[in-house]
Amino acid sequence: MNSIDTNKLRANIPFFKDIDQSLLEHLVPYMREESYKKGAIIFHEGDEGNQIFFIRSGMVSIYTSNKAKRITLAYLTKGEYFGEMALMQPGLARSATAETMTAVKVYSLHRSDFYKLVEKDRNVPFLLLNYTMERLRKANHQIYDLTFLNVQHRIIRRLLDLGKEVGKLREDGSCLIPVKITHQQLADTVGAARETVSKIIMELQDEALIDLSNKKLTLLNLEALRNKLNQH
Ligand code: CMP
Repeated sequence: MNSIDTNKLRANIPFFKDIDQSLLEHLVPYMREESYKKGAIIFHEGDEGNQIFFIRSGMVSIYTSNKAKRITLAYLTKGEYFGEMALMQPGLARSATAETMTAVKVYSLHRSDFYKLVEKDRNVPFLLLNYTMERLRKANHQIYDLTFLNVQHRIIRRLLDLGKEVGKLREDGSCLIPVKITHQQLADTVGAARETVSKIIMELQDEALIDLSNKKLTLLNLEALRNKLNQH
C-alpha cells in the first residue's frame, strides 16, 4: 500500500481533477511514486511499454534519435503525462525516449490499472483525446517550423515557447527559464547542428535579446524577440 493522497493527486495532475472519487481511491493503491535523478532514462524508444507516467515535478525530454542525430519532440513538465501510446496499443513499442532534464518525480500506473480507469470513467477517453489533439497541434507547429522557418527563427520560437511553458517573469520584464539548457539540447529541439545554434545564440546575446551563461537562460527582451520572429 502507498500513501498517495487523492486531493494532492488532483491538485498536481489535471488529468485526475474530474475523476470519480471512489474510482480514484480504488486506483491509488496501485499507483507508484518514483523519483529520478537529472539525466536519467525513464525508458528508451523501442522498449516494450506497460506503464503510463504522470509528472509530479520536474521536466522530461521526449526525443527520437538515430545513431547520429536526435530530435526533441517535446519537453513535458509538472501535471503532464507520457507513455500512454504504447500502453493503449499492446504490442506497440515506445515511440520515443523519455529522459529527465531535472530531478523528476512521477506517479506511474500499469496498463491493467489504467484500463480500469478508461473503462469505468467515461470522462477518461475524452481527456485522452483532448490531450492527444493538443499534442498533434504542437507537432503540426513543429512540422511547420522545421519546413518553413530558418534556424534563427526556429530557435527564437522555441525560446519563446519555453518562456511560455516554464518561464518565470521578472519585474524588469525579462523571463528566466528555470531549467539548465545546453546549446546541444537547443540544437536538438530545432533540428540544427550545434555549431549553427551556438553562432545564433552569440548573435542574440550580442543584441541583448537573451543571456545564456552557465546553461542558465534568460529571455531579456520578449517584445524584441517576438518582433524578430514576425519579420520572416
Ligand atoms: P509511448 O510511445 O508509450 O512512449 C513515448 C511517449 O512520448 C509516448 O508514448 C507519448 O506519451 C510521448 N510522445 C510521443 N510523441 C510525442 C510528441 N510529439 N509530443 C509529446 N509527447 C510525445
